[in-house]
Amino acid sequence: MDILTVKDLKVSFEAGAERLNAVRGIDLEIKSGEVLALVGESGSGKSVTSKAILGILPRGARIEKGSIKYRGRELTSLTESELEAIRGRCISMVPQDPFLSLDPIARVGEQIAESVFCDGCLSRSEKRRYKRQRALELMREMGIVNAEERFYEYPFRMSGGMRQRIVIAEALAPSPEILICDEPTTALDVTIEAQILDLLGGLKKDRGLSMLFITHDLGVVARIADRVAVMYAGKIVEVGTVDEIFYDPKHPYTWALMSSMPGGTEKRLKSIPGSVPDMRKKITGDAFAPRSEWAMEIDYAMEPPFFKISDTHRVASWLYHPDAPRVDIPKDLRKRIEERRAHTDGRG
Ligand SMILES: Nc1ncnc2c1ncn2[C@@H]1O[C@H](COP(=O)(O)OP(=O)(O)O)[C@@H](O)[C@H]1O
Ligand SMILES: [Mg+2]
Repeated sequence: MDILTVKDLKVSFEAGAERLNAVRGIDLEIKSGEVLALVGESGSGKSVTSKAILGILPRGARIEKGSIKYRGRELTSLTESELEAIRGRCISMVPQDPFLSLDPIARVGEQIAESVFCDGCLSRSEKRRYKRQRALELMREMGIVNAEERFYEYPFRMSGGMRQRIVIAEALAPSPEILICDEPTTALDVTIEAQILDLLGGLKKDRGLSMLFITHDLGVVARIADRVAVMYAGKIVEVGTVDEIFYDPKHPYTWALMSSMPGGTEKRLKSIPGSVPDMRKKITGDAFAPRSEWAMEIDYAMEPPFFKISDTHRVASWLYHPDAPRVDIPKDLRKRIEERRAHTDGRG
């Protein structure tokens, strides 16, 4: 069953006399216990999508159109206080920068305790004790040793990786069903990143938590996601299972993203030639066409619909129209994919 369904979502920002179309009509669904990765270059509309879902769009932003449903309940028409009941308890967020989201002058344990949800008729002191206990449990679950001591520490005394653990504990404190992680490992080095990804992967396995995992780095996706949606210029251009996207990518933009992935332990991505379009201008046709060596005339004239590759795999590119010339995935990329497949198969 889908617990989150986004349909034809459009979000725009005030930009002087014009409007900037940050999200231009996207569909997403997340099933219970599933991790969906949302991948795309910086500026493609990933964070705006997540903020729209949580109802925390900044001033000047507007949902133009579309529907966001949590367990069948429409969120876009809720009042602020109704939304507050959803945020945290149902859908919770791990923000990109753990330093900015923590209060610098409050002890980390108390910050987690504050987010613990506790109803029922407990006395004030019972509540306090319960929340503290839960905060400590969460800290331990996050792999923090000496949780009792660290409870009283301030964020600035902690390393980036430790702060990220605290922020995840805080997001989990109200026991949400869906966790939205917006680039949770971007600020971390490769070793710590791997630890945090394992931690998040464990939450999926042990708690059956559903996740929307946002990243610009396709490399981290294979470690955590079940399905992947690739986003470009405010649209989803390809969606499929992790295997479909990694072994059989179809959209030229997905090819470009994959070719930009670094090898080995290097963390820096190579940049994709060209730049993302100006989202204040009306985009006609396929937004990626000006950067694609496979662009055809129709790509500049008409927006491509989704073509079905399998029941789970869809791609928005005219290349998959029955009348389009057959195009194959670039040779270099094919080779990398074959190598990766051999490597993965070798490990069983
Ligand atoms: N507060 C804001 N005001 C105006 N434009 C914004 C604001 N936040 C984001 N945008 C614009 O919306 C688009 C999508 O941004 P964002 O969702 O942050 O991208 P991503 O998270 O994929 O890097 C970008 O063109 C960005 O400039
Ligand atoms: Mg972002």
